[in-house]
Amino acid sequence: MQNHNNLNDIGVIGLGVMGKNLALNIADHHYRVSAFDLDPVKVQGLVTQEQQERAGQASRILGCADLRHMLDTLQKPRILVVSVPAGAAVDGVCSALIAAGIETDDIVIDTGNSLWTDTIAREARYQHQFIFFSSAVSGGEVGARFGPSLMPSGDPKAWQHVAPIWHAIAAKVDAKTGLPIERFEPGNPVTEGEPCAAYIGPAGAGHYVKMVHNGIEYADMQLICEAYQLLHAGLGMSALEVAAVFERWNQGRLNSYLLGISSEVLKQADPLTGKPLVDMILDTAGQKGTGLWTAVSSLQLGCPAPTIAEAVYARAVSTQKSLRGLLSQQLQGPRALTLTTSQQADLINALESALYCAKVCCYAQGFQLMAMTAKEQHWQLDFGQIAKIWRAGCIIRAGFLQSITQAYAADPELSHLLLAEGFTQELSEQQPLWRQAVVAAVMQGIAVPCISSALAYYDSYRCDTLPANLLQAQRDYFGAHSFERIDRPAGEHYHLDWPAAERTLSRIR
Ligand code: 6PG
Repeated sequence: MQNHNNLNDIGVIGLGVMGKNLALNIADHHYRVSAFDLDPVKVQGLVTQEQQERAGQASRILGCADLRHMLDTLQKPRILVVSVPAGAAVDGVCSALIAAGIETDDIVIDTGNSLWTDTIAREARYQHQFIFFSSAVSGGEVGARFGPSLMPSGDPKAWQHVAPIWHAIAAKVDAKTGLPIERFEPGNPVTEGEPCAAYIGPAGAGHYVKMVHNGIEYADMQLICEAYQLLHAGLGMSALEVAAVFERWNQGRLNSYLLGISSEVLKQADPLTGKPLVDMILDTAGQKGTGLWTAVSSLQLGCPAPTIAEAVYARAVSTQKSLRGLLSQQLQGPRALTLTTSQQADLINALESALYCAKVCCYAQGFQLMAMTAKEQHWQLDFGQIAKIWRAGCIIRAGFLQSITQAYAADPELSHLLLAEGFTQELSEQQPLWRQAVVAAVMQGIAVPCISSALAYYDSYRCDTLPANLLQAQRDYFGAHSFERIDRPAGEHYHLDWPAAERTLSRIR
């Protein structure tokens, strides 16, 4: 584990919220850290925080004046964690490390939300200067501090050096129950349980998996928001009443970090007005791009991920506030429905099913995306392992990831999550309620793009004959694009001479 000379075990470059908390987490596990940021105030802030947290004990974090200083304080091969915004800043740090004298065996770990293809390019670009490794990190600032979910990828030899530290600092799961073991105490980290860190594959694989994680995160968040909208705007429930419903749901199969924080958010009063804070927050959503990348990837692959794409669109619509303001005055919707108390209770019950089924579909979309990209990139992704490391630490951690873990354990070659026996059965049983919730939303004029697109996804996949037969005929009609026939071998293409007076069918290849 830790070395016994005077050199430190690992360097952390970039001491924003994530870098600072990763450094403190690593130090909690008895590793000695050299830390650097272009802003000396951040370096001093970290050193001071560590001293306060570990009062009276020897410091394990050394603040460095520059990168040369950092390199001089680290044992070789050096392990350097880079925590800077994705994009040009990563290359900025790499160039500065080259100028500071980094060596070919040293390992640079990009922990930001980099675009996966950039990671592949960087590994090649820096191969003669150092080993460019990457590890996506999920869990926000609390995760970074007390146990994130980590998705490392790149040179397997580099992973051997990084693995002990990564396994130590990662979130942990109880091996028997599959539930997170959480303790948020500086200096008293969780050391027992299964770590949520596993080698994902060659360069780019970890960032691809994290990108899909974020796509699912977008969809999962939007699904919860749609349920809130239906309960709040549709049924007229207050933020506190919706919080109570979410809390109840969170005790069951919908148990997840995101649902838990949503009910907490809904209970929060605004410090300025005393009203529910959520009612005072402007309804325009931000985004940094990872959900968009996931949707783009799905379109490029031809791998349907409509619920993830709809979640990106929902954020886009939200930003068009003035247009919505204008159209809300112009466009008619349905008359508000008045539901009896028992109808309301039925709808809340149906909505719970709808949320669960849609959630299963959005995870299924994410796993199918990963499978298709893995095939294309020749990666051997272990989906059971990926589900396992998402059970704690990350933003999409949820009780039902244990069911996904079990589904892949039962069949590591599972080609689609909806084919797993448990999910097939549950969704088949629950789909009438899912439809009821969508119908109620439609009849109330409340947009539920993710809940309803997931239902369309479900219905498309269970449909043996889609109207693509007509579509192929249309393509052949105006563009002579040809079609295959159901009564002839696959690969035989036919064209009908549509413009001719006497339409003749010919086999064209
Ligand atoms: C995580 C999060 C994290 C970040 C997202 C937010 O797993 O810890 O996904 O990476 O919260 O990038 O993305 P948006 O700003 O695009 O919502």
